[in-house]
Amino acid sequence: MSRLLQLSAITLLAACVSADAAPSDSEAVLASVAVDQSLPAVVVYKTETCGCCNGWIEHLRAAGFEVDARNVRDLMSVKRDAGVPGPLVTCHTALIDGYVVEGHVPVEEVKRLLAERPDVAGIGVAGMPIGSPGMEGRNAQPYQVIAFDHAGQTSVYAEVDPR
Ligand code: CU
Ligand code: CU
Repeated sequence: MSRLLQLSAITLLAACVSADAAPSDSEAVLASVAVDQSLPAVVVYKTETCGCCNGWIEHLRAAGFEVDARNVRDLMSVKRDAGVPGPLVTCHTALIDGYVVEGHVPVEEVKRLLAERPDVAGIGVAGMPIGSPGMEGRNAQPYQVIAFDHAGQTSVYAEVDPR
């Protein structure tokens, strides 16, 4: 099981690096947005070479979140400790106010999570879909935000259509 997770993560991380080629023209503008002190601080665990992770981090900062981005060698152990279910494992793992946020989750859904505070461990977007925040590009596709609990049970948290 853990070996399987590791293999899928390696594949995803490789995909993430190649997505880095997509230009992010709004990055300079986004970087100037002030931190909203009413929002909880975010810690994002990622690998050093992950370009799309930086795209997602900028997406959160643009919405006012203060983000502490940490490059780690053993990202899988972070995911294991956080209880991210295997099928949801992707390029980065964020910890926000007691919740886990895995992958390219839109900030609107992060804010809804923090406002509604459902009885889940966290939410995630699997597979880095094109059109999700940090994965901008042509051929955007609909995707789901999945909630997961501490037992690994999943449910659909949101349907997103970025087109
Ligand atoms: Cu990614
Ligand atoms: Cu990422």
